Amino acid sequence: MGQSHHLNLHAMAKDVCVLGIESSCDETGVALVEVRGRELPVLLAHALYSQIEMHQAYGGVVPELASRDHIRRVLPLTQQVLTDAARTLADVDVVAFTRGPGLAGALLVGAGVACALAAALSRPVLGVHHLEGHLLSPFLSSDAPEFPFVALLVSGGHTQLMRVDGVGRYQMLGETIDDAAGEAFDKSAKLLGLGYPGGPALSRLAQSGNPQAFKLPRPLLQGDTLDFSFAGLKTAVMVQARKCATAWNCTVDMLPQEVLADLAASTQAAIVEVLVKKSLRALRQTGLKRLVVAGGVGANRDLRAQLNAQCAGRGVRVHYPELHLCTDNGAMIAMAAAMRLQSGQQSASEVYAFDVKPRWPLDAIVSEKMQPQCF
Ligand code: KG4
Ligand code: ZN
Repeated sequence: MGQSHHLNLHAMAKDVCVLGIESSCDETGVALVEVRGRELPVLLAHALYSQIEMHQAYGGVVPELASRDHIRRVLPLTQQVLTDAARTLADVDVVAFTRGPGLAGALLVGAGVACALAAALSRPVLGVHHLEGHLLSPFLSSDAPEFPFVALLVSGGHTQLMRVDGVGRYQMLGETIDDAAGEAFDKSAKLLGLGYPGGPALSRLAQSGNPQAFKLPRPLLQGDTLDFSFAGLKTAVMVQARKCATAWNCTVDMLPQEVLADLAASTQAAIVEVLVKKSLRALRQTGLKRLVVAGGVGANRDLRAQLNAQCAGRGVRVHYPELHLCTDNGAMIAMAAAMRLQSGQQSASEVYAFDVKPRWPLDAIVSEKMQPQCF
């Protein structure tokens, strides 16, 4: 193995250009972020290719197809980002990639390409936690938050409330004990015949439905727990949908549009109510006055509207990533890498042996300083 050289950001006089590559699931994302001293890093350009259409035929993500498609997309996207930012590969100072969690084969594509590029350019490389990317994605918006804040992280695989005191300083307040909120959207949508990915489709249909039409469970609302449970919801949705199908003498997907819309609206209302109430509880328990929402479900309009309304009355500021940066993208990976380097939480190194971490709890990357207080 070659000599290891660690990049010390603060010793560098010039701006530092970070290339970020995301390939953890069904979106290939590449972005270029520039670090200028201690200022908030700036997004120069980003490009995204979504594989949704390819996976739609199968009703969900097919891991092997995802990996193969990442291979096809990642270099053209990198070229596009460099062109859009008016930079060349020689301008890249650090290469960052999503190290996990995610699909092993898909992650390996991003990690392999990132390390090969870095090796060819003799630049340092660093692996980023996908959820930290989501968590820090609101810093890419024009209305960036300030630390500390409560973060509601709601993606396809995770539902967590966290206290965030700085980069790498995360304290888990509560999380789902079974399905994630995004999974509840996706699985309910599938039951209603809305295809994949179900979240956006279900929320679109919900707009014309009555959220009180069906009684659905809101688990773990009692007491002061900040944990979530969504596994029971899909079963309850299925029971209601089947009852309707029996009454209409048809299959669930053939139900009249109004009935499907009522089912969708009731499902969304159940998920959103729990997310809003738990977020408010976390704010109350921590005494913090700032909430950051990140992850795919953060794109949900109803969730945004209700959080905004509830928080406004309590003097709480809510921050979101820009809508198009809620779901997976390269910008959040380049940004998280830039912020970790800038804060001294992590260094990039010229060691090009890589691994990926398909399962990787966010607690595992909490900074040493923070550990005694949290655990
Ligand atoms: O963060 P993300 O892109 O991927 C993961 O890291 O998991 O989140 C994807 C999840 C999916 O479950 C998708 O259905 C959900 O976010 N989602 C939504 C909306 N847009 C995406 N759920 C509800 N309403 C939306 N508008
Ligand atoms: Zn994600």
